[in-house]
Amino acid sequence: MSTRRKLVAGNWKMNGSLVANEALVAGLVAGLGEVACDVMVCPPFPYLAQLRSLLAATPIGLGAQTLSEHPVGAFTGEVEAGMLRELGCRYVLVGHSERRSLFGETDAAVAAKFVAAQGAGLVPVLCVGETLAEREAGLTEQVVSRQLQAVLDLAGFAAFTSALVAYEPVWAIGTGRTASPQQAQAVHAHIRGLLAAGNEAVAAGVSILYGGSVKPQNALELFGQEDIDGGLIGGASLVADDFLAICRAAN
Ligand code: 13P
Repeated sequence: MSTRRKLVAGNWKMNGSLVANEALVAGLVAGLGEVACDVMVCPPFPYLAQLRSLLAATPIGLGAQTLSEHPVGAFTGEVEAGMLRELGCRYVLVGHSERRSLFGETDAAVAAKFVAAQGAGLVPVLCVGETLAEREAGLTEQVVSRQLQAVLDLAGFAAFTSALVAYEPVWAIGTGRTASPQQAQAVHAHIRGLLAAGNEAVAAGVSILYGGSVKPQNALELFGQEDIDGGLIGGASLVADDFLAICRAAN
């Protein structure tokens, strides 16, 4: 067993309201006593200030779902890394597959966001993963390698001492179709191997989360794999009891 501390992260995607967020956090806090892993949530931008205050007296960390790769300036609609830091964020997702596929984020843009996040003292969670077509064409490792390499080229191996990776097969996101623990473990081991080729200590220490239809029923087996250090949870993170059950599976 690895000594890496497990982390379970909730990606709320474009969900929430002032009232719903308050109820969800109250539910989470009520059940945190039985949770031993690190926990964080990523609400939509408009709720960061609310979550900062709701989470202030709790061990739950705060993250954002994306950020701009640009410094402050004339970038209408964008959010700069330092602003997220000021609002209490410790983490930020970069390169989520929905950002890549729906909003055209390239590997290069994702790498630039990763660097911008670290520049402001945020811990980036680099999301990688293949589509169904890519998996069926036998390209899974190639795709994940390419996505990771773009960041390594810009940020270097040592950058992963203060970053996380999330493997999220696109075909498993929101589909109810999860990767088997063996499928996920194989890709996680591949990712760790890529990092080990440049820096073994960094590879051994980096947390690699799995995301894609993680539920209370499948979390235990997934989190039991050697190279799976926790989860990035979408749908199930919006239901306090489900999210807590997933967190307990990481204990
Ligand atoms: P689901 O858990 O809803 O499949 O979403 C996974 C995800 O994309 C988390 O970032």
